[in-house]
Amino acid sequence: MKQLHSFDNQLFLPDMELVDTYRRHLNYLRVSVTDRCNLQCIYCIPQGKIKNLPHAEVLRYEEILRIVRIGVHLGISKVRITGGEPLVRKGIYGFLGKLNSIKGLKDVSLTTNGVLLKNNLDKIKTAGIKRLNISLDTLNPAKFKRITRHAHFSDVWDGIMKAHEMGFAPIKLNIVILRGINDNEILDLARLSLDYPFHVRFIEYMPIGDAGIIDGQTILTPEIKNRLHQLGELTVVQNKVTDGPALRFKFPDAPGEVGFISAISHHFCHTCNRLRLTASGQLRPCLLADTQFDLKEPLRQGYLDRDLAEIFFKAAGFKQREHHLAGNRPSKVAGQMSAIGG
Ligand code: 5AD
Repeated sequence: MKQLHSFDNQLFLPDMELVDTYRRHLNYLRVSVTDRCNLQCIYCIPQGKIKNLPHAEVLRYEEILRIVRIGVHLGISKVRITGGEPLVRKGIYGFLGKLNSIKGLKDVSLTTNGVLLKNNLDKIKTAGIKRLNISLDTLNPAKFKRITRHAHFSDVWDGIMKAHEMGFAPIKLNIVILRGINDNEILDLARLSLDYPFHVRFIEYMPIGDAGIIDGQTILTPEIKNRLHQLGELTVVQNKVTDGPALRFKFPDAPGEVGFISAISHHFCHTCNRLRLTASGQLRPCLLADTQFDLKEPLRQGYLDRDLAEIFFKAAGFKQREHHLAGNRPSKVAGQMSAIGG
């Protein structure tokens, strides 16, 4: 450890950045603020009653802000807020504003299912959030109910349209395609990129938790891409280094883009710059591996910032070269997506 740095007047942190064993700079933290959700998507949450974390187990906003400040000191420059559904948590808009004012944090974005979006966009804007990722697996209200187990299609659609009118950009639409459920909408969903400047993103289903999705239902990127040829030639949109793992494309003259997040068929682990903070305060080096490091108890026991920073370095050190869900090694992740954050 090199020199110690003064921080918040009284605390001291090591002057080192988070770099893992494979020389990946970890500058991106995804934070799940709650495991609760107002939808129950079939690929995310098992049917029936799921047990939510007791409130005391969930990090308080002040605790999250402290962890993020430490992370920023160690080189984190980008934070995405996820859930569960972040907008169901009380006080979220004030929290987003405080998060956005952390010095050194360059980018704060939000992933939401869109159900509560339309009446809260002003507050999201005031909090300084410009970039939204919204889940949208279908354009059909009845199918929306089948996939999410709730009849909120028009709320989500209205929210997306209003966000677009208010100038949020880019708006990324997250889509998980499942065979026999919404694969007949691949073209209609991709067409949104012809009508709007949206980034339509097809995300391969990842076997996390016990959602009950069976092998035959999953569709990998190459098949989706093949089907899209019917709409026109896709040309590559170059990714910047700071962009996420999506491989990006465009139809001729389209205002929007089509992207693929192919964690299974074409893993992008070599470019992974992420750590995740779960709703219960676990620091997770990889979405698709169950190893995690507790920050909540040390934090509540009064650890100093530099001790908490050590936990960041430990998690970075445990980041594996790549995840092991691809290929023919049948396995899955034990944790629940709704608590880890997508
Ligand atoms: N596999 C792939 N994507 C998933 N999401 C939720 N569960 C899964 C899963 N098992 C996606 C949702 C949401 C995003 C944050 O994660 O579509 O938009």
